[in-house]
This record gives sequence, structure tokens and C-alpha cells, in this order.
Amino acid sequence: MTVKKLSSLGFALILSVSAVFYNAGAWGQSSSTQKQGGDAGNVLIAYFTTSGVVDASLIDPSIDATSQASVVIPNMELIARYIDETIGGAMFAIKTVKKYPVGFKELNAMGYEELNANARPELSVHVEDMSVYKTVYLCYPNWCGTIPMAVATFLEEYDFSGKTIVASCTHFGSGFGSSVQDIRKLCPNSVVKEGFVGSGRNVREAKNDVVRWLNEFQL
Ligand SMILES: Cc1cc2nc3c(=O)[nH]c(=O)nc-3n(C[C@H](O)[C@H](O)[C@H](O)COP(=O)(O)O)c2cc1C
Repeated sequence: MTVKKLSSLGFALILSVSAVFYNAGAWGQSSSTQKQGGDAGNVLIAYFTTSGVVDASLIDPSIDATSQASVVIPNMELIARYIDETIGGAMFAIKTVKKYPVGFKELNAMGYEELNANARPELSVHVEDMSVYKTVYLCYPNWCGTIPMAVATFLEEYDFSGKTIVASCTHFGSGFGSSVQDIRKLCPNSVVKEGFVGSGRNVREAKNDVVRWLNEFQL
């Protein structure tokens, strides 16, 4: 997808980042709960969502004052929540020390800058004990055709050998892009599976799709 085409996504992004106010502090690393007969204690649901890493102080609160935008939940946080509600697990938000710009054009440019530099943005939160998890549901938005570089930092920070990583992604047209192959390169000793992939435009209505996918999915 071209930079020009992606610029048209700016409005949706503004809606998404406005969720910072709605959602601040609502979800962090939650306690694991077992649902649908799964072994939830072994499951980590790690997610990166754009609105979780932008500089909230740059958001103009008047943008969403009267619209439903104030209750829009960041896409990948929502997908992670659907997974948690269906199979259970420990939720973990991948967050960066650095705060990203709010405007889509600047954000997209920074995404490409990091991709081209193969950057590893420093993370501000860490999983206490990764060794307890056997399965990691990794949820991220397609950024510039692949994983955000902060997700690469996350994948290099821990030893995922012998674990199963289930990649799930939302996007505005590019699907998984090269993200699954890129995760495999970063985690050569893990089983990396394609999980849920869906449009970032209607995540609020996608819970049934996620539940259906989880019911059919073979680990
Ligand atoms: C920096 C940036 C780059 C993006 N690059 C792509 C892309 O290359 N292809 C695509 O289909 N969508 C792209 N998108 C759209 C996101 O994948 C989509 O909006 C996603 O649902 C956002 O989820 P989130 O709100 O949880 O971050 C991009 C979004 C951002 C912010």
C-alpha cells in the first residue's frame, strides 16, 4: 500500500488514538482466567496497539467531544480482549519508552523510518516471567507492511524457543503483509502460526469472527 493511499486512513487513526482517554489504565497485565477448557495459565496474550504508544498529550480532546470516538477501543487491544474473553490468558500491552506522533502522516513516516533502519524501539514494560507461557497470542496492527518495530523488540527480548506464537493482525488492506515471515525469522525456534486477520475498519463488530476462528483453530 502506498503512503498516499495510507494517508486516507488518517481519520480512522484519529478515532483510534482518541481511545487513549477512554481506555487509559483499563487493561494491563491481567490475571489469567481459564475459559472454554483451555490451559489459560500457559497463555500470554501480548498486544501492540497504535493508540497505546502515541503521545496522548498531543491529542486534541475536542476532536471527539461529541462523537462516539470517545468510546472507540484501539483495534488490537480489542482483538486481544476477545481472545481473553474466549480462551483466557494473561494480557500484556507492548509499550514503548518513546512516544509516537499523533498525526497519521508523521506516524507513517516514523514507521517507515524505523522499518528502514531495522530499529528496535526500547520497551517500557516487561513480562515478569516468560518461561511460564507455552502459547503466545501476538496481536499487532500491520504497520508499513509488517510488524511494528516495537514488536520486533518484544520478540528479541525473550527466549521463545519451543513456544507457539499465534500471530493476529488487523490492517487497512494489506492483510498480514510480510509480518508472519518476519516473526518466523526473529523466532526460528518457535512454531509460528497464522491466527486471526481482519480489517481494522470494523473490529468493534468482529467479536463473532474472532470467536469462530478460535473455535476452529488448531494449536
Ligand atoms: C504507522 C502505520 C502504518 C500502517 N501501515 C499499514 C500498511 O502498510 N498496510 C495496511 O493495510 N494498513 C496499515 N496501517 C493501518 C493499520 O494496520 C490499521 O489501522 C490497524 O487496524 C490499526 O490497529 P491499532 O489501532 O490497534 O493500532 C498502518 C497504520 C499505521 C498507524
